[in-house]
Amino acid sequence: MDKIKRLAFGTDHTAVNLRNAIKEYLQTINCEVEDFGFSGYGDCDYPEYAVKVAEVVVDKKVDKGILICGTGIGMSIAANKVKGAIAAVCWNEATAKLVALHNCANILCLGSRTATTNEICSRIRIFLETPFDERHLKRIEKIKEIEELRPQ
Ligand code: RB5
Repeated sequence: MDKIKRLAFGTDHTAVNLRNAIKEYLQTINCEVEDFGFSGYGDCDYPEYAVKVAEVVVDKKVDKGILICGTGIGMSIAANKVKGAIAAVCWNEATAKLVALHNCANILCLGSRTATTNEICSRIRIFLETPFDERHLKRIEKIKEIEELRPQ
């Protein structure tokens, strides 16, 4: 990637052994990583990390967010509670591309228990390299309208 991408990175205890390798890889593809993840011992609660990453993404302090828990699912559910977050789980390279191209995702969620470190790195790279296709904008606007139905 030519242009530096600023990333917010958040992980729970399931990714403690992968997180440094992933961050090192991200630096090799021209990313500046702000790390909000858990690096201690024992267990933690993934919503705490999801909300930190989602807030800096929505506030445009970074370009994109990356969240990793056991499956990516809990992180995505929690991050999507933050207005403006579009946090999407991907499960292969094709869906890593499509969540950027069709869904305008600003946060990619991945599973430490469902993918290898190499697969995670490759999916992140594809996500970051893929621009949004404006053809899908009206659908994203309809999602944003749902956010306005109930005051937060
Ligand atoms: C933690 O054991 C696990 O539930 C969490 O990492 C995640 O997979 C939740 O969706």
